[in-house]
Amino acid sequence: MKSSRVSERFDIAGKVAIVTGAASGIGRAIALDLAEAGAKVAVADKALGGAEEVAREIQSVGGKAIAIKTDVTDSKDVEQMAQRTIEKFGKIDILINNAGIIARSSVLDMKEDDLDRTFDVNLKGVVLCSQAAARHMIERKSGKIVNIGSSLSSRASVCNLSGGGADYCASKAAVQALTRSLAMELGPYGINVNSVAPGPTNTPMHEGLWEMAAIYYQNSVPLGRLAEPEDIADVVVFLVTDAARYITGQTIHVNGGQIMVD
Ligand SMILES: NC(=O)c1ccc[n+]([C@@H]2O[C@H](COP(=O)([O-])OP(=O)(O)OC[C@H]3O[C@@H](n4cnc5c(N)ncnc54)[C@H](O)[C@@H]3O)[C@@H](O)[C@H]2O)c1
Repeated sequence: MKSSRVSERFDIAGKVAIVTGAASGIGRAIALDLAEAGAKVAVADKALGGAEEVAREIQSVGGKAIAIKTDVTDSKDVEQMAQRTIEKFGKIDILINNAGIIARSSVLDMKEDDLDRTFDVNLKGVVLCSQAAARHMIERKSGKIVNIGSSLSSRASVCNLSGGGADYCASKAAVQALTRSLAMELGPYGINVNSVAPGPTNTPMHEGLWEMAAIYYQNSVPLGRLAEPEDIADVVVFLVTDAARYITGQTIHVNGGQIMVD
C-alpha cells in the first residue's frame, strides 16, 4: 500500500495521455476531462479538423494538447501517433482506445465490407494502438489503458431499435474479451487495462436515430436519463489515476442502471 495522500493518488497532473476518436462525443469529453485534471493530451482522430478544435479548446484554458491525424486501422498512422506524442511530451502514460463506429445492418443483409470495416475500427484499432503504446509502457514498467466498450451492445442481442447491429454488438463484446487478455499480458509490467462500457450516450453517433431511441432508452434507465459524454469521461479519468491501481481486466458499466448483473 502506498503511503501517499489520497489527493496525490487521484492526481494525474503531468501525465501524458493519448485519446483516440477524440474529435467528437465521448472521446472529446475524455480529452477535455483529462486535460482539466492536468494531463497533457494527444487528441487523435481521423478527422483532423475536429481534433484541432478540441486541442485548441484545451489550449485556450491553459492546458497542453496536440492534435494528431490518426486512422486507428492503419498501423503506420498508429506508429506515428505514438512517436509524435513521445516527441512532443516525452512519454505515454495513458491510452484511451475510444474510436469506434456504429453499424446497423442485420446479419442476413450485412455486407462483407461493412463487417470488415466495423471490426477494423472497433477491434483491430484497439489492438494496434495498444501494441504501440504498450511497447513504450513496458520499458517504463507503468501505464494505463482504457478501452471503450458498450454496456448494452456487448450483452444484448440488438443495439438499435430497428434490430440489427450484429457486427457492432460482436465487436464490442470482443473489446471486453481483448481487455482481459491485455490485462493478463501487461499486468506483470505494471500496466492496468480496463474497459468502460457506456450505456446509450448523447453523442453525434446517434444522429438521425436519436429522438426515437432517446425515448425508448430513457424509459429503460432507472436513473431516468441518458448518459452525457461527461458521465462516461469521469469514470475513465478515475481508472487512470493511481487510486484505481488494483483494478485490471475489468469492464465498468456506466449505464444508469439500464442493465444490472452481478
Ligand atoms: N454514444 C453511445 O451511445 C455509445 C454507447 C456505447 C459505446 N459507445 C462507444 O463510445 C465510443 C465513442 O462514441 P461516440 O458516441 O462518442 O461517437 P462519435 O461518432 O461522436 O465519435 C467517434 C469519433 O471516432 C472517430 N473515428 C471513427 N473512425 C475512426 C478511425 N478509423 N480512426 C480514428 N478515429 C476514428 C470519429 O471521427 C469521431 O470523432 C465508440 O467506441 C462507441 O462505440 C458509444
